[in-house]
Amino acid sequence: MTGRDEIISKIIKCPVCSEGVYVSEDGKSLFCRGARRHCFDFSADGYINLSRQGTGDSKEAINARRLFLSGDYYLPIAQKICETVKKYVPTDATILDAGCGEGYYTNKLAENFGAVLGFDLSKFGVSAAARSAKRQGLENTFYSTGSVFELPVRDSSVDCVVNIFAPCAEDEYMRVLREGGVLVVVGAGKNHLMGLKTVLYDTTYENGDRADLPTKIALTEHLTESFEMEVCGRDRIDSLFSMTPYYWRTSEADKDKLRKIDTLKTEVEFEIYVYRKV
Ligand SMILES: C[S@@+](CC[C@H](N)C(=O)[O-])C[C@H]1O[C@@H](n2cnc3c(N)ncnc32)[C@H](O)[C@@H]1O
Ligand SMILES: [Zn+2]
Repeated sequence: MTGRDEIISKIIKCPVCSEGVYVSEDGKSLFCRGARRHCFDFSADGYINLSRQGTGDSKEAINARRLFLSGDYYLPIAQKICETVKKYVPTDATILDAGCGEGYYTNKLAENFGAVLGFDLSKFGVSAAARSAKRQGLENTFYSTGSVFELPVRDSSVDCVVNIFAPCAEDEYMRVLREGGVLVVVGAGKNHLMGLKTVLYDTTYENGDRADLPTKIALTEHLTESFEMEVCGRDRIDSLFSMTPYYWRTSEADKDKLRKIDTLKTEVEFEIYVYRKV
């Protein structure tokens, strides 16, 4: 049994009947232990499709994010997340990344912790994440499609849930966390990408407060971090822009202002919230 197969049999449950699962001897499929023996095949890229819902981000959105993140502009965010998680769980911990996208942060976590599971509604996201894990030789990863609101994961089975720039599903995260486990929610700060907004708009506003933060559990730690970033090249500036909500609500006239620059200096500000399940 490989490291990945062990993670699967300890943590994953059948999305149809909720029974435990195991990986077939040839490593190509996942079977449930229920009477119906539901079967799910791994894709050639190495992810599995356990979702029964929605579609998530498009191929274009995932590719744009991949292009930008591969420049490591957000490495300080990944490092701060790993540093924060390390304060609360041991290095052999099992981490679940809820809404993992193309796995940039997930694979960084896999370099630092025992095992990492990434779920996203987008099959393009988990496919890119699994390919990148394979390229990096990270055998302690498992990627599947899945909604953060209905994870195919057993109760109280993971040490830490990270939720990075993705929807927060408090009840579901509390269900899958073991007692004493931690939830780490990461989102944009008030001044996140202010330099980008300054290029686009005549008048800029700070970002408002996030509406979906957990309310039923006590906050253990809250950090606000920021750094200056310089993005060079039209492709990378465009890919960053397309990752933001402004991409969808900016007029062509304002988009033209961004098309005229090939270096963008901007502040990056992010918030980390840590909650412990008691
Ligand atoms: C802004 S992206 C962030 C991705 C990744 N965490 C990162 O920071 O690079 C948000 C992701 O959440 C996913 N998503 C949206 N709703 C979801 C849901 N209900 N369940 C799982 N993933 C979801 C999208 O497909 C997308 O990949
Ligand atoms: Zn089943």
